[in-house]
Amino acid sequence: MTTPPGAGQTRGTATRLVTTKAELREQRAAMEGAVAAVLTMGSLHSGHLALVRRARELADHVILSVFVNPLQFGPGEDYEAYPRDLEGDLALVDGLVDVVFAPSAEEMYPVLPPTVSVSAGHAGTILEGAARPGHFDGVVTVVAKLLRLIDPHLSVFGRKDAQQLAIIQRLVADLDLPVRIEPVEIEREETGLARSSRNVYLSDQGRAQALALSRTLESALAAAGSVSGIRAALRAALERAEIDWDYALALDPATLEEIGSDYRGEVLLVLAGRVEGTRLLDAAVAVATGA
Ligand code: PAF
Repeated sequence: MTTPPGAGQTRGTATRLVTTKAELREQRAAMEGAVAAVLTMGSLHSGHLALVRRARELADHVILSVFVNPLQFGPGEDYEAYPRDLEGDLALVDGLVDVVFAPSAEEMYPVLPPTVSVSAGHAGTILEGAARPGHFDGVVTVVAKLLRLIDPHLSVFGRKDAQQLAIIQRLVADLDLPVRIEPVEIEREETGLARSSRNVYLSDQGRAQALALSRTLESALAAAGSVSGIRAALRAALERAEIDWDYALALDPATLEEIGSDYRGEVLLVLAGRVEGTRLLDAAVAVATGA
């Protein structure tokens, strides 16, 4: 593998835009060495650039997809109104990725809805999926297709969308997809607040309140491996009610079920709540070594 240039911002050769599966296949066939996929719905921002940077560190070539996937929007959700800015996206990643694959909905789904699709199972119906029936089925269906089409060695996903990441890890394990999923750490402000495009909606007071999320994670992580310590930290946060919590849970990353007191291994901590009407998420991975 080649060494990535600097912090990954140095621009290389011009990026190619392809819109059909046939063109993508042709570009992919010409690539030698490790290929990384960055899957997006466009309207790229600094969070996506962090994924691109990590992909560049890990592979010789990067293919970025820009596709607003109709299958993951429910009735009444904003599929039509979802922001689309392919020109802006291309300008942002020009020279940073080898290929941008931006297919039309017809190119991706000649028949819509497709006759055969992938199910995220129970894991797709809880937490973020509870209010969005079918959302995660749509995500895993398009991710399976994109990974099949791009055929990368690895694909990067942010840890902040912890449920999506966990479900995609299950997709790859359960369907034996020949790709490595690389989680990318959450970018945080100096205060600890997870970076999000939604943070702009918060007042100074709201930003201070929102620190309840990262502080809760810190205290759960400081519980140093004890299941009861982790759960006590989460319970204490919910009781303090500094923000309007939706959930603060310790989950088995393989099943997304809440862990029991005899659980040992990696624990996925997932938090969601509202501050000044803005819904915020945060997540971290702890390790449970004892009760
Ligand atoms: O996280 C996203 O942007 C989307 O859910 C993904 C993974 C690109 C699938 O459409």
